[in-house]
Amino acid sequence: MAKSTTLYVCQSCGASFSKWAGKCEACGSWNSLVEETAAAVPKGLSGKRGKGVDFVGLDAPIPEAIRRATGIAEFDRVTGGGLVRGSALLVGGDPGIGKSTLLLQVVAALGNVKPALSCAYISGEEAVEQVQLRARRLGLSNAGAQLAAATSLRDIIASLDRSDPPDVVVIDSIQTMYLDSLDSAPGTVAQVRSCAAELIRIAKSRGFVLLLVGHVTKEGQIAGPRVLEHMVDTVLYFEGERGHQFRILRSVKNRFGPANEIGVFEMTDGGLHEVPNPSALFLAERRGNVSGATVFAGMEGTRPVLMEVQALVSPSPMSTPRRAVVGWDSNRLAMVLAVLETRCDLALAGNEVYLNIAGGLKINEPAADCAVAMALVSALSNRPVPEDVIVFGEIGLSGEIRMVAQAEQRLREAGKLGFRRALVPQSPQLRDKGGTGKAARPTAAIEGLQAVEI
Ligand code: TYD
Ligand code: MG
Repeated sequence: MAKSTTLYVCQSCGASFSKWAGKCEACGSWNSLVEETAAAVPKGLSGKRGKGVDFVGLDAPIPEAIRRATGIAEFDRVTGGGLVRGSALLVGGDPGIGKSTLLLQVVAALGNVKPALSCAYISGEEAVEQVQLRARRLGLSNAGAQLAAATSLRDIIASLDRSDPPDVVVIDSIQTMYLDSLDSAPGTVAQVRSCAAELIRIAKSRGFVLLLVGHVTKEGQIAGPRVLEHMVDTVLYFEGERGHQFRILRSVKNRFGPANEIGVFEMTDGGLHEVPNPSALFLAERRGNVSGATVFAGMEGTRPVLMEVQALVSPSPMSTPRRAVVGWDSNRLAMVLAVLETRCDLALAGNEVYLNIAGGLKINEPAADCAVAMALVSALSNRPVPEDVIVFGEIGLSGEIRMVAQAEQRLREAGKLGFRRALVPQSPQLRDKGGTGKAARPTAAIEGLQAVEI
């Protein structure tokens, strides 16, 4: 019989230890180790012989209708064109961000595509009536989805492991599910992993799409979706700031489509609405002619998105002035500040510096370096950047400007939104496109920028 041993499992990264400690050695989080009993794994193969696996040619025909679009364009874009049969998707995000609302809308949309897909929505968090009420309020009650409130995985598997399962199954959320064969409480790494593994196994063998909801939590008690990322085919994160009405669905892993793709939604009284043109939304509240603001043409996956970078520079009485960043990497800001200070002789050291990506968007592209530098220089000199200018380009440590990918797409998006000029890294391709060819120099030492007309 398998012997059971006590392990201490980190609830944020899943690493296991034989002794308890205040800090997880693997990921560095504090107070995240929880005692779990794990059945010891039997070693090697026992005497029984397996039945062998079936091989299929790489060029063998693929069954039709393997991928089905939901009709919600932003969701389809992020999943790479729709849901693939037999695949497992994880939708992670902070509690209250709108995951249940999104999946309810997806399920309703799938009931309306032709031919309609049968969907089951299993909630472990809300009663059936609560889901029904929400669906009525969103005007989705005529969608043919089946609802259930359940948390016992044994019961759920019993109703799904049949020859005619629903086409799409939503489990909201994986943290509320429990397998009675395990001693650990629902939401612990052992439970979340085992429940997900069982569900994924059934999804693959019965050929339905499995959508798992997972909460991302700050403090250790509940296992975050990170421990599931390698088990599923697609990982989507639903992000957004509570104070802002828009939400971003981002694919961080996708076996069936491009990763890092984003879909933008707006949370309204009537549920989530698609935002087909996010640049216009992110720039909607822009005030022209103020110092410290520039428009950056960024790329989110395959889609160009314009956003406003705002900087505030103010003299500080403190010996170590404050630096605060919202929406960008603070190390990257420190680097741009150091380059401006050292290579361009700008006196930034005695100032407090605040940087904000307006609208609550988070960016991590080095291509934003130039826009950040420009916003900082504009804030420091109190001279506004002209309103019809967009900027992009990476800055190197010696102060050089580097070319970034997809420059033409960025310029095209800026042109669509009425921008007429751009400061971009010098490159022969862009100069040939009717640019002025004149090297623009926002500061003495930064070279390699050129002004182009869009
Ligand atoms: P929900 O989908 O329950 O979040 P999650 O499943 O990620 O925990 O969404 C909850 C939030 O969304 C809640 O704060 C209210 C808001 N909301 C709206 O603003 N409009 C709506 O139509 C709905 C359904 C929710
Ligand atoms: Mg929910």
